[in-house]
Amino acid sequence: MEQMIDGQSYTIPEHIAIILDGNGRWAKKRGMPRNYGHLQGAKNVEQICQDAYDLGVKYLTVYAFSTENWKRSEEEVAGIMNILRQYLKSFKTHIKRDKLTVRVIGDRSKLADDINVLIDELWEMSKDHNGLTLTIALNYGSRDEITRAVRTIAEEVGQGKLTADAITEEMISSRLDTYYMPDPDLLIRTSGEIRLSNYLLWQLAYSEFYFTDIAWPDFDKEQLIEAIKYYNGRDRRYGGVK
Ligand code: IPE
Ligand code: IPE
Ligand code: MG
Repeated sequence: MEQMIDGQSYTIPEHIAIILDGNGRWAKKRGMPRNYGHLQGAKNVEQICQDAYDLGVKYLTVYAFSTENWKRSEEEVAGIMNILRQYLKSFKTHIKRDKLTVRVIGDRSKLADDINVLIDELWEMSKDHNGLTLTIALNYGSRDEITRAVRTIAEEVGQGKLTADAITEEMISSRLDTYYMPDPDLLIRTSGEIRLSNYLLWQLAYSEFYFTDIAWPDFDKEQLIEAIKYYNGRDRRYGGVK
């Protein structure tokens, strides 16, 4: 999709994945506890969803909690889970107005029961919506996701439901948590780190990467537009020659 920004036409990435990083450092800089940063970070997800939708983005996939983040203090993990709870609840009030679809990827078996209920309710409420699809990666790790998919496929082969020949790239994609979305066109990571931290390793094979030093709570529409302009400067060759 093309969109006019500052009097110029830009291609809008259909799917943007974001590693929202830097909440803790952002809070520390202000003499506040890390969880205050997570709260501001959650509020910002809501704002960026709106901005992305206004710009014409169809899929936004945000990394909110990794399979490795359980290593943090009990207090921080509990704080993040509580913010998430409030955040998911608040979606219920505006999901209809915004025609938003909310989905979760990751291993849900380790999430609290009430959070899982909220996720199911949001999915049920939004499944006919045609606005932005917001996917929240929760207890998500790409290696864990691939391992789970391989296990299911192996079981099916073992039961004779599937032959090894039937295992193709498309088939593997269809068994990942992200089966319902196209691969990300653009990956954004905030707060200066240049690494993937176990995010969407399979899906990001041909995405463009945008890294910024701005901390997630400070990442706003202007920054998003900067990332989209950067994306427009890239030549996506997919291994070919242009
Ligand atoms: C990202 O911010 C949010 C989560 C990983 C839950 P961080 O909490 O990683 O913030 P920094 O990187 O410590 O500043
Ligand atoms: C990646 O951020 C995970 C999320 C944003 C949820 P981290 O802050 O956990 O990543 P590392 O530890 O710096 O690699
Ligand atoms: Mg971090």
